[in-house]
Formats: sequence, structure tokens, C-alpha cells
Amino acid sequence: MVLLATFCIFSSSKTERCRTFAIPMIHLEGIHKTYQGAQPLHVLKGIDLDIAEGELVSIMGASGSGKSTLLNILGILDDYDEGRYYLADTLIRDLSETRAAAYRNKMIGFIFQSFNLIGFKTAVENVELPLFYQGVGRRKRHQMAMDELEKMGLTDWAAHYPNEMSGGQRQRVAIARALVTRPKIILADEPTGALDSKTGVEVMELLKRLNREEGITMIIVTHDPSVAAQTNRIIRIKDGVIE
Ligand SMILES: Nc1ncnc2c1ncn2[C@@H]1O[C@H](COP(=O)(O)OP(=O)(O)O)[C@@H](O)[C@H]1O
Ligand SMILES: [Mg+2]
Repeated sequence: MVLLATFCIFSSSKTERCRTFAIPMIHLEGIHKTYQGAQPLHVLKGIDLDIAEGELVSIMGASGSGKSTLLNILGILDDYDEGRYYLADTLIRDLSETRAAAYRNKMIGFIFQSFNLIGFKTAVENVELPLFYQGVGRRKRHQMAMDELEKMGLTDWAAHYPNEMSGGQRQRVAIARALVTRPKIILADEPTGALDSKTGVEVMELLKRLNREEGITMIIVTHDPSVAAQTNRIIRIKDGVIE
């Protein structure tokens, strides 16, 4: 699916001229972000960026360059100070907190370096959680979570707790949790950063397959050039802007 918009110009002779454009999935224009504190820190200094639906991109940059800050803004987890962020056709600034949360839940799945699983919940309960927040009933969300775990090859691990699983298994539970709501976009912050290199390769293969086969737009923050090299486009942040 490609998002399309049609613009028409009505001339005085009443004949209309229309053109159809593809809308990027993500459109950032002049995004600024400053962290307030004793010493305000101007991290993003005018980020302009378009990402089309179905792209597989990586974001690279030195530690502290603002990669996670940018990802948090893309994920509607954090606000920006200046500029415009359109996700699909929606200007994010315009959303109320409740609508932003619902939109985030519908559009975006997150994967983190440290998995961010809940330790006192089993694998399947972790995967069910976003569905719980969407108000999906108990039985249905259990079935959906089990289906997602099956795709990750984790059926036998559904009743296990995160601390009983390897790093690679935990990250696959986290990927199942990101996918269970059928998001349009996956945002991954150093998804292989806590894994050994062999497991990291397996997780990247999985993310690439999801991009290829399900058309999920995939945005991967990494400082690992071998991870970035597997994506179709590398976006580099330096001094608060995109190089
Ligand atoms: N919540 C916050 N409050 C204040 N400073 C922050 C906050 N989050 C990040 N920073 C600072 O902003 C800069 C960019 O951070 P971050 O986006 O996490 O960088 P990266 O992910 O590229 O390593 C760093 O100097 C970091 O210390
Ligand atoms: Mg970071």
C-alpha cells in the first residue's frame, strides 16, 4: 500500500488539473529539541527527513548525537520544540495526549536494546500487553500473542519468564510484542546491541524478513556499521542535523 494524496487546481475556465503524489510515511521538517535543565542541551537542530512506506533504514551517529531522541520523537514518546512531524497524514503536534497514545499504539511497534520485557510476566503475557491496552478481550489477545510467538519459533517458551530465556529469545519475544498490534512502522533502538554477534545476525535477518514480506517500515538505530550496511539507506546524525 502506498499513501496517496491528490491535489487539484481549479482554473478560471473551471477545468481542474489534478496531480497525485505519494505521501511519505514519515515527514520531518525543521525539528528542534532542547532538553531543559541547569544547562539546556540543544540536541536536534533542524532535522529534515522523509521515510517512505516500506523502507528499511538505519540511523547512525556518535554516542550522544541524538539518535534515541529522534527515535523517541518518531515514536510519539517525546515532544519536539519546533518544526513539523507528519506520520502518514497526521500532524503529530495536533494530537491530544490520549489520541497520541492511541495513534502510537495503532501505528508503531518498538524494539529496544535491553528488550524492556516485564520480568514478572511470562513471554505470552508480555506479548499480550499492547493488546490489553487496546482493549482486546482476554481470550482473543492470548490467541493473537500465541500466534505471534509461534512465528518467532517460541511456542514452547510462552509460559517462561524473561530471566529463563537467552538474549536472542528475549529479543524475539520483544519483536513478537512489537508485531502483535500489526503496526505500520517498527522503531528499533540498537536492537542487536545487547546480543552476541551470531544472535545479532539472526535478529537482523528476522527484521529484514518482516520488512520484505510484510512491508513494515523499519527504522533501526545502530552504531554498528555491519548492521547499518544491511539496510537500504543510512541516515547519519551529526551536530544535531542530518548529514
Ligand atoms: N531526558 C533527557 N534529559 C536531559 N538530557 C538528555 C535526556 N535524554 C538524552 N539527553 C542528552 O541528550 C543527548 C542525546 O542523547 P541521545 O538521544 O540518547 O543520544 P544517542 O542515542 O545518539 O546516544 C545526550 O547528551 C544525552 O545525555
Ligand atoms: Mg541512544
